[in-house]
Amino acid sequence: MKFFIDTANLDQIREAQDMGILDGVTTNPSLMAKEGITGEANIRKHYLDICKIVDGDVSAEVISTDYEGMVREGDLLADLHENIVVKIPMTKDGVKALRYFSDKGIKTNCTLIFSPGQALLAAKAGATYMSPFVGRLDDISSDGIELINQIRLIYDNYGYQTQILAASVRHTMHIIQCAEIGADVITAPLSAIAGLLKHPLTDSGLAQFLADHAKSQAKG
Ligand code: E4P
Repeated sequence: MKFFIDTANLDQIREAQDMGILDGVTTNPSLMAKEGITGEANIRKHYLDICKIVDGDVSAEVISTDYEGMVREGDLLADLHENIVVKIPMTKDGVKALRYFSDKGIKTNCTLIFSPGQALLAAKAGATYMSPFVGRLDDISSDGIELINQIRLIYDNYGYQTQILAASVRHTMHIIQCAEIGADVITAPLSAIAGLLKHPLTDSGLAQFLADHAKSQAKG
């Protein structure tokens, strides 16, 4: 399973990259705004800065909602760097744009997926990745993880190559459940990824090993 970090924060991206486990980055307009990145030129430069840190796919989302705008924006984004993945919302124009980029050999990530039917359309349109939002479904008393299950079953039934990129992943259990189901990718904040490190028996076991080592050195 590939690990993407879901942020536009360069320090956090560097930290995950330094761990040696990072396969890519996802961003969205809200994450870019959170970092105070405004204006087309700055936004493009920021994507390039991310691409310099991570040798993996970097999702850059279009702002346009009409087909022509998505295509114009997506072409410009894709020209920035070979690792840029054009992120497109799940709408009728979005599906059309997915097909356009797929036919051109440009990688895409279909975002804002909340149902198996939308997942089916993203695969039919040739999306490279599709992003079901696990946490946002949980937020409204729906079962986000069950959606990942349903999509895995559907894609396996027909051998669709579109990768399931579980998004809106909020905590470690989401990551583990996605891995059990066989999601191709998870994208999560650094806190959720780092949370996988934690186990009290690791901490106490290490403390004991170090204490025993120190004792034996003192005797020697
Ligand atoms: C990823 O592609 C999405 O933009 C992101 O995971 C959304 O996460 P959120 O629901 O925590 O905002």
